[in-house]
Amino acid sequence: MGVSMNVRTAVVPAAGLGTRFLPTTKVVPKELLPVVDTPAIEYVAAEAAQAGAQRLVLVVSPGKESVATYFDPTPDLEAELRGRDKDALLDKVRRAPELIRAEVALQDKPLGLGHAVGCAEPLLDDSDDAVAVLLPDDLVLPAGVLSTMAAVRQRYGGSVLCAFDVPREQVSAYGVFTVDGTEEEDVKRVLGMVEKPAPEAAPSTLAAAGRYLLDRAVFGALHRIVPGAGGELQLTDAIALLIDDGHPVHVVVHRGVRHDLGNPAGLLRASVDFALRDPEMGPELRSWLRDRVE
Ligand code: G1P
Repeated sequence: MGVSMNVRTAVVPAAGLGTRFLPTTKVVPKELLPVVDTPAIEYVAAEAAQAGAQRLVLVVSPGKESVATYFDPTPDLEAELRGRDKDALLDKVRRAPELIRAEVALQDKPLGLGHAVGCAEPLLDDSDDAVAVLLPDDLVLPAGVLSTMAAVRQRYGGSVLCAFDVPREQVSAYGVFTVDGTEEEDVKRVLGMVEKPAPEAAPSTLAAAGRYLLDRAVFGALHRIVPGAGGELQLTDAIALLIDDGHPVHVVVHRGVRHDLGNPAGLLRASVDFALRDPEMGPELRSWLRDRVE
């Protein structure tokens, strides 16, 4: 089918106001809030790099450029840490700049996720026949689903998304799929996709997690969409157009964990989950939590 395995460019929409994290987000972008000690954006960058991406296009709104600054090297801090023999800390601060090359695309008006992804188009080059899109609010674990999606794209062509099964009463927070089976248990062909349906109208309980491997044709579709759910230009509606045009779209059904970092309770849960698994912090936190809960 001639579909290349490697997607070089990952687009990360990070332009939102972060209202659920006010007042912190008056000054600190939501994407830089830590899960334990590492900002969400670094996990997403690591996931993209692991799947072979070489550059991260961060779509930010004016004032949120520090999301990209986070990927710049900090030579003064590094020299200071080196001078103090703080090797473990040195490794930590060098991690992000060594992961991937970060570039910025500016979204000057909050017109929706579809519009945000479209803002990355001028930065693409001829070899980008597909892009990965990762929503930094979603932590999909174990990381690696993007590589599975790339393998599915190689088999079926077109675009590949990640789905997870949610309780019906929650579907109205997501893009929801109409699917048909394939020979593979966890791969479905997508026949339709609708953004934030009412539970009783939802075509299934398979919801879009924030991981997309999109054929470049999506940018053509993004030019054709009109405001949809919530009055916003929706990525879902562009994908629905691709399907209508006959482009193959599949989902990988993710059976692992998903953390929603888009709200304080979800971020806290992710932090607790990560800290419990940390060999240094875990045991003490576990016993403290047990006491505290009792
Ligand atoms: C976005 C997408 C939606 C997807 C969700 C996953 O919605 O529009 O299709 O299911 O992310 O987190 P948002 O959370 O921005 O409202």
